[in-house]
Parts: sequence; C-alpha cells; structure tokens
Amino acid sequence: MSKQFDVIVIGGGPGGYIAAIRAAQLGFNVACIDEWKNGKGGPAPGGTCTNVGCIPSKALLQSSEHYDQANHHFADHGIKVEGLGIDLAKMLARKDQVVKQNNDGILYLFKKNKISFFHGRGSFEKSGDAGYDIKVAGAAEETITGKHIIVATGSNARALPGAAFDEENILSNDGALRIGAVPKKLGLIGSGVIGLEMGSVWRRLGAEVTVLEALPTFLGAVDEQIAKEAKKAFDKQGLKIELGVKVGEIKSGKNGVSVAWTNAKGEAQTLEVDKLIVSIGRVPNTIGLNAEAVGLKLDERGAIAVDDDCKTSLPNVWAIGDVVRGPMLAHKAEEEGVAVAERIAGQHGHVNFNTVPWVIYTSPEIAWVGQTEQQLKASGRAYKAGTFPFLANGRARALGDTTGMVKFLADAATDEILGVHIVGPQASELISEAVVAMEFKASAEDIARICHAHPSLSEATKEAALAVDKRTLNF
Ligand code: FAD
Ligand code: NAI
Repeated sequence: MSKQFDVIVIGGGPGGYIAAIRAAQLGFNVACIDEWKNGKGGPAPGGTCTNVGCIPSKALLQSSEHYDQANHHFADHGIKVEGLGIDLAKMLARKDQVVKQNNDGILYLFKKNKISFFHGRGSFEKSGDAGYDIKVAGAAEETITGKHIIVATGSNARALPGAAFDEENILSNDGALRIGAVPKKLGLIGSGVIGLEMGSVWRRLGAEVTVLEALPTFLGAVDEQIAKEAKKAFDKQGLKIELGVKVGEIKSGKNGVSVAWTNAKGEAQTLEVDKLIVSIGRVPNTIGLNAEAVGLKLDERGAIAVDDDCKTSLPNVWAIGDVVRGPMLAHKAEEEGVAVAERIAGQHGHVNFNTVPWVIYTSPEIAWVGQTEQQLKASGRAYKAGTFPFLANGRARALGDTTGMVKFLADAATDEILGVHIVGPQASELISEAVVAMEFKASAEDIARICHAHPSLSEATKEAALAVDKRTLNF
C-alpha cells in the first residue's frame, strides 16, 4: 500500500513550503514534493523565489548597489577609494551561497516540522476512496496518497515567439542572474519588475542598458506621480527606457543578439546587444502535473481555476501562488498557503488582496499598497491626497539619498487610508507601516498623530499623512 498523508503539497516554493509548515503546525501528517535541483543534482527547495527570483536578485542588487555607492557616492562623504574593481565570479558565488543558505534553511524547517520531503516531480495518477494518488518521479519512482492536495507549482518565464530562451544569448530570469562577464551592451524586453531590477544590476556593474517596453506608459500599474518620479531617477542613472515599442525579429548569433523594433513614432530601429533579457511576464506552470488524469480544470490563461478560497474544481484539491490568479508575488503565495492549511483544518483563513504590498527593489525603491490615484479617479471615489518629499527629511539628507516622496490617498469624507505610494530610500521597509494601518482601517489622521522616531525616514510617512490635511510641519 502506498504511503498515506493528510496533506500532500506539490511544489516547494514560498507558497508550497509555507503551506506544508502551517499544515504540520495544525497537526496534519504532511508531505511536500519539489523537483528543483541544485548544481549537483540535489534538492533545492524554495522554488523560483529562492533559486532564480526574489533572493538571488536581491543579493545581486545589494552587491551592485555597494559598487555603485563606492564608485559614485562615497566621494560625497569624504571617502576616497582607489583601485575599485569588480570580481564578478566572487559576486555570483556569494549570491549562490545566499541561495544555498535559504535552500538548507527550508530543508531544516521540513525536518523540524516533521514534514516528509520528496525530491522529484509530483503528478496526479488517480483519485480513489483514500484520496488522490500522486506519483513521485525522482531518483526512484513511488506513489503516495493524500486526502488533501495543495498544488503550488509556480510559474515560468514567458518567451517571445521566435526567440526561445537559450540562457546564453537570450536570457530568462535564470540566465539574467548568472551572466559570467559584464556585457558591454545589454538589452531587455519589458520594463516591468524584472526588467527594472535586472537592468539596474547590470547597469550599475557597467553595462550599457536599453529596455524596450510595449506600453506607451511607464509602469502603468504604479501611481502615475510615483512612476514619473521613478522614471526621472532612472533616466538620470542612464537606464535607457524606450516606451511604446513594437518588437520584431530577433536574431541570435556568435556576436550577440540583434533586435528589430519600431519606436513610438513608427520608425524602424535595430538594437545590437551582447545579451538580451526577455522579461515580459510569467506563465502559470502546470507542466508534468498530469492535471487531466483527475480532471483538474484550468482557466483561459492556463492557470489552475480556483475560487476566492483557493478551492479548485475538485474536492479536497487546492491551488495557491503563481499557478493561480492574482499577483505573482512570494508573500501572496505564502498568505494563500497559510489560509489553505487553516481552511483544511476547518478554520477561516483569509487573504486580503487589497493590502498585499508591492515592492520594486531598484534605486530608488518603489513600494505601494492599496489603490493608485488613477484607480480612485476611474472609480469616482472622492479622495484627498498628501505628499511629502524625502528632500525635506533630515535622515534622508544625512543618508545622502533624498530622491522621491511618500504619498497618501485617503477617503475625502472618512479619512480612511485608501493607498500609500512611496518612491525613495528604504521604501520596501517603510511600506509595512502603511500595510498595518490599512489592515486596521486606520485614517490618515491616525498615522499623523503617531510618534515617529527622529531622525528617521518614517517621519516622511507621518508628514505625508499630515499633508492629507494640509498641515505638514517640515515642508
Ligand atoms: P514557485 O516559487 O515557482 O515554486 C514552485 C515550485 O514547484 C518550484 O520549486 C518548482 O520546481 C516546483 N514544481 C513545479 N511543478 C512541480 C511538480 N509537478 N512536482 C514537483 N515540483 C514541482 N516576488 C516577491 O514577492 N518579491 C520579490 O522580490 C520577487 N522577486 C522576483 C525576482 C525574479 C527574477 C522573479 C522571476 C520572480 C520574483 N518574484 C518576487 C516572484 C516570486 O518568485 C513568485 O511569486 C513566487 O516564487 C511564487 O511562489 P510559488 O510557491 O507559487 O511558486
Ligand atoms: P511584468 O508583468 O512586471 O512586466 C512585463 C512588462 O513587459 C510589462 O511592462 C509589459 O507591458 C511588457 N511587455 C509584454 N510583452 C511585451 C512585448 N512583446 N514587447 C515589449 N514589452 C512587452 O513581468 P516581469 O518583469 O517579467 O516579472 C514577472 C512577475 O514576477 C512580476 O509581475 C512580479 O509579479 C514578479 N516579480 C516580482 C518582483 C518583486 O516583487 N520585486 C521582482 C521580479 C518579479
């Protein structure tokens, strides 16, 4: 007889491994199956996020930011640097080490929580009285049975038609994180989150970077005022972003990649680069899951169809994270994982999509939660806005980083905070206060009356809340 589990999680990314831990905490007998392999063929749980996403990108963003600071900004602080250089092999090895620490951390957490980990591909075989039979194809093949199945198989990079990823010249996020020598010229297709983060890394390290974006507006999902401010900063840094383009034929050869494109005026152009990163979004991953064996339904985008509670078309089969609708973010996947484990236990797990924060880890960082000004206008909601520039913040001046602002949007009548948008230093950390405030349905006045440490960047948050009522103290 096959091994029986209360819960089997397929996929060990941030959605899957967190779901497994929460289910184990709730007293279930849990298995997690993940197929990711490290360089030696061993297990590397953590998914896209840990292996080729959030973690390695932030490691390289940090290293390249240190270099950029030493190269361009230390002198302002009276620090002289001689013989500055880059040891790219070491930088990449450090990034790999950070990834490994996270892989090892997850394996430790599986042990600590008594979760049975299976290294291999999980696929549906059939359903029966005891639950669902899942085939695990790893070093050996075996079948395990689960009463509940949580599918957390993530997503893959979307390729451009006619330009398959070879990870040598035409790179997905995977190849973009392990280019062996700083390219002289780097092209990116898509100025979304990956385009801006990866473009920033390689620009700071010395590449001449051109980003080709199809949409006529820059960062359309971001509050317009914030996106404009960010664009100004990126232009100043020399990140060349072309908007409203149409990408044509892509040719890859010994000498690099040639991209035919048309600019916003309809003029034909050619971009010759050493490497091309294609970052035009991601597609849900159901490859190898054998969803058809049990009749698991997909939606029109190829994502697993789920309701608001992450229930699929099949009883006791759940799906979370990038493989279902909603933003493709690690923390969204994690929240869904926790909520599903709690629902299986008969509890009332809940994910509030309105308070999922977004962060783009460029310099300046961009972070937001809730609605943008353009969304409020479109919905006809009466609102008040307040902004405060980092230029007027003492800590930002001391840091030498005064780019950007904090912006509050609050309901015109009740003062409830509807959205907070930040572009500037440490926006990724500052946004947490706004998330907490919105979860507690705080008003702008609530934040304005809370004592914030001086000198700190968080005072800009307080001042932006004060600005909603037109009574900033330091501007
Ligand atoms: P994944 O992390 O993709 O994990 C799925 C796992 O399932 C993988 O390990 C896969 O191998 C495994 N798997 C798939 N099919 C099977 C199968 N049949 N059997 C066994 N195993 C299987 N998000 C953020 O919130 N912050 C960031 O800073 C951030 N940075 C990013 C940077 C980059 C370059 C990229 C590409 C993404 C980034 N993301 C970031 C997005 C984030 O990585 C994803 O939203 C997140 O990883 C989704 O988690 P998941 O658990 O749904 O799927
Ligand atoms: P994205 O959706 O952020 O951006 C894709 C961009 O490519 C869009 O601006 C789109 O208009 C453009 N585009 C699409 N087709 C195009 C074409 N044919 N020609 C030119 N431009 C085209 O997707 P991206 O950057 O690939 O990232 C995928 C996802 O990964 C993100 O949406 C996000 O969910 C996640 N992610 C999150 C990060 C974070 O939280 N900091 C970091 C990196 C990724």
